[in-house]
Amino acid sequence: MKFYELSRTERIQQLVAQGQLDTDSAAYLLTKPALTDDLLAAITENDLGQFVLPLAVANHFLIDGQSYFVPLVTEEPSVVAAASNGAQRIAAGGGFQTLQVQHQLQAQVILTGVADFADLQIRVDQAAAQIQTVAAAAHPSIVRRGGGLREVQLVRQKNDWASLNLWIDPQAAFGANLANTIAEAVAAYLQVQVLQGSEQVLAAILSNSGARMQVRVQGRVPYNQLATAAQSGAAVAAQIVKLNQFAQADRDRASTENKGVLNGVFAATLATGNDLRAVSAAVTAQLQAQAQLTLATWVDQPEQQCLQGQVNLPLPIGRVGGAINSLPAAKISLALLGQPTVTGLMSIIASVGLANNLAALRSLVTTGIQAGHMRLQAANLAIQAGAQGKEIAALTTALNQQRQVDLALAQTLLQQIRQKKEH
Ligand code: MEV
Repeated sequence: MKFYELSRTERIQQLVAQGQLDTDSAAYLLTKPALTDDLLAAITENDLGQFVLPLAVANHFLIDGQSYFVPLVTEEPSVVAAASNGAQRIAAGGGFQTLQVQHQLQAQVILTGVADFADLQIRVDQAAAQIQTVAAAAHPSIVRRGGGLREVQLVRQKNDWASLNLWIDPQAAFGANLANTIAEAVAAYLQVQVLQGSEQVLAAILSNSGARMQVRVQGRVPYNQLATAAQSGAAVAAQIVKLNQFAQADRDRASTENKGVLNGVFAATLATGNDLRAVSAAVTAQLQAQAQLTLATWVDQPEQQCLQGQVNLPLPIGRVGGAINSLPAAKISLALLGQPTVTGLMSIIASVGLANNLAALRSLVTTGIQAGHMRLQAANLAIQAGAQGKEIAALTTALNQQRQVDLALAQTLLQQIRQKKEH
């Protein structure tokens, strides 16, 4: 039986048997899907209840030579199906490779009233060692763990504004709190010891630009993985490249293609307890800053009979800290991934984005997107039509036999199923 055909219990048992999931995590998934009242009260404000989303896994991921089942949290089944589908085709070409990854967080001390930038630069350079000492004293534990302030840059802005950019190595954390602590301490020091005359600190806060929290991942797809009954692999590869080039020239299409990448990226980000808003802000910043409109690029390699794709993303994420340490399902997700390093996790999340992108582009230039989508949406439609218990599977099957489905048809088919049962 294929992985997706197993029941949830069988799937969990298989992951335990393969050593991918420990027995405590398996027991948790099977018996305690919700947060306890204490945890709920501790991690939010004004709690009313729980908003539960499915935790699924995508399979076939081969990343830097290692196989993964990747946890995904999403309300959309086609995201999980597309991730596995794309990953399988890329695994046949040797899997995903990380080409570049860096994990440094930026904080800014925002300055106004800078009448003489060159003079301020001299004073900041003279204070370099003291800024380092202030930063280390503000967060000694990150220094003990081998991280902390790495670089200081004074950047001139328009008007009489400037920004003192602090580049911080947060180690395995995303590092929002530690970056803000360091930035506030450096700001207080600057205000008293370095700034003069009209110069003022306006604010001290991390930047979500993700400029140095970047990952670039590549994957190759052999032509034979792209072929359909009607089209050769070479033809499909050429169409995928063309569609990607169209997106690179057209913002309307680029936004949709990028959404396909983010389908996978967000689902894996959420599953590992990371901050989606931070990732969204960084991706937005990158797309505004770079000339290229798309996050992924596909090129044809006819000599090697393959299509090659790359995704280049900012991923401001962590492996420890915040919700990652308190949400039980996030801890299970990281265990399922074999407790990756933070840069390893960045590669995994970016790979999911590239896999989703490949699956989407291949569908678009071959069968179209609706066939697969509607099949996966049938269960949702069955529930909307009022199906309950075993009726859901029966109505899903009935809907999948139809060419076109909508709510009215789902309700009619449900009535037929109920009438049959009565006779
Ligand atoms: C749907 O969630 C994502 C796609 O629209 C992406 C794309 O068009 O490339 C299929």
